[in-house]
Amino acid sequence: MKEKNRAIYPGSYDPLTNGHIDIIQRGLKIFPAITVAVLKNPTKTYLFNLEERMEILEFVFGQNPRIEIDCFDGLLVDYLKKKETNTIVRGLRAISDFEIEFQMALMNRKIDPSIETVFFVPSIAYSFLSSKLVKEIYQLGGEVKSLVPEIVDRKLKEKFR
Ligand code: PNS
Repeated sequence: MKEKNRAIYPGSYDPLTNGHIDIIQRGLKIFPAITVAVLKNPTKTYLFNLEERMEILEFVFGQNPRIEIDCFDGLLVDYLKKKETNTIVRGLRAISDFEIEFQMALMNRKIDPSIETVFFVPSIAYSFLSSKLVKEIYQLGGEVKSLVPEIVDRKLKEKFR
């Protein structure tokens, strides 16, 4: 029996941004429970390792009983099977996201026809925000305080001190 009410919000979260938080908050208006699933890809280079990415998520969402923090490797559809759910949540920021998100949603559904992907549109204030830009701006000496939770700003400081 599938746990149809739990949605999985997969991502790299390298690092978590206010845009991700915005999507999770919107997701919780629809789904009673969300699992934030951090991708563990050994072939990819991350700024924050898996433990650090999960620690940040635990710090921000650990007190919320409706949010579970987990990690996965391999195919996302296999992870959904393991979690006994069929719903993926993703954020759609701009037209530029659409092509890749459309491709992923259809490919996931091709692999497993029971999978549904639900897209949430973030607040306009975060429609230009990405983890990649946060890292770049920080490394070049810019300010990211308004774009990430306080713990991320602190961890970035520790990394580049
Ligand atoms: O935060 P990101 O990097 O945009 O998240 C991408 C993610 C994790 C959703 C995607 O890379 C993924 O699902 N990877 C797992 C491997 C997989 O299932 N690939 C086929 C996707 S169609």
